[in-house]
Amino acid sequence: MQDRIVLITGSTGGIGKETARGLAQLGAHVVLVGRDARRAAAAADELRRTTGSAAVDALTADVTRQADLHRLAADVGERYGRLDVLINNAAIVRERRELTEDGVEAMFAANVLAPYLLTHLLLPQLRAAAPARVVNVTGAVPNGRLDLDNLQGELRHTLFINQTKRALMAMSHEFATRCPAGEVTINVAYPGHAHTAMNRDLSARTFPLVTRPLVPVLRLLLPILYGGDAAEKASRSSVLLASDPALTGVSGTYVGTGGRPATWPACALDERNREAVWALCERLSGAPRATP
Ligand SMILES: NC(=O)c1ccc[n+]([C@@H]2O[C@H](COP(=O)([O-])OP(=O)(O)OC[C@H]3O[C@@H](n4cnc5c(N)ncnc54)[C@H](OP(=O)(O)O)[C@@H]3O)[C@@H](O)[C@H]2O)c1
Repeated sequence: MQDRIVLITGSTGGIGKETARGLAQLGAHVVLVGRDARRAAAAADELRRTTGSAAVDALTADVTRQADLHRLAADVGERYGRLDVLINNAAIVRERRELTEDGVEAMFAANVLAPYLLTHLLLPQLRAAAPARVVNVTGAVPNGRLDLDNLQGELRHTLFINQTKRALMAMSHEFATRCPAGEVTINVAYPGHAHTAMNRDLSARTFPLVTRPLVPVLRLLLPILYGGDAAEKASRSSVLLASDPALTGVSGTYVGTGGRPATWPACALDERNREAVWALCERLSGAPRATP
């Protein structure tokens, strides 16, 4: 990974920061992205100190804001001119249905639309580094039904994280189909569990009513079960997809915990789902985009 430029969203903490650490240790020039400039600078300082690599930069963007994604892509173009790897790692969970300033449901905006839009905006820089790689990070329960009537949580919001990750996978598969693998490959990583800000802040309201009494017990168990080196272990699937020379030119694959090959959920392969999610992303991001 010597001198390869890698941008990782949501990398000032959690699994994203461990992904950045792993890739910096392999020699990559790592660009961290978080919402807050101070936290991003502090994370970059820590990684420079602990990895001994000077090639760790920090940029800021809130992935729920389309204006920030446009600015981030412009910054990357100006500063680096090319991008070897983009890892769309940032994701959010919201307790109640919220709309962003762009009028998009917030979880759909961060977990599905941001990977779609940022990848499109950075295609010129990725193509300049061809064969470049995009890694989209899935999670929650990616198997199951994707409800096309509830893509923005219009009908139900409980466990909506699952819906957004299924939609992300359908979008990723469609992107991989449309994008020539000789230019840019698009693959999906499932990290496995880690005790991070995401599940530390989980509110009982995000669970189905019957399971809510168990949430306090879960809160006690999660740090024990998924603390320690769990975030580093969870970063391995993204690190592998970003760096393994054997995966050069390989697109449309899905790897699970530890980077083991996994089977795509049927909902992500379903053509109707893929087209519906793609069309919604096109519409919500402002303008129809030509096939990449
Ligand atoms: N943790 C798990 O058990 C687990 C399981 C399966 C899948 N995953 C997936 O793994 C990925 C990383 O999860 P994680 O648990 O490491 O998450 P996390 O701890 O909540 O991620 C924190 C990172 O995300 C950034 N972030 C949060 N909201 C953001 C926003 N609106 N815009 C830009 N950055 C934002 C934070 O930056 P600032 O706060 O500095 O802005 C920080 O860098 C996600 O895609 C998640 O779905 C996690």
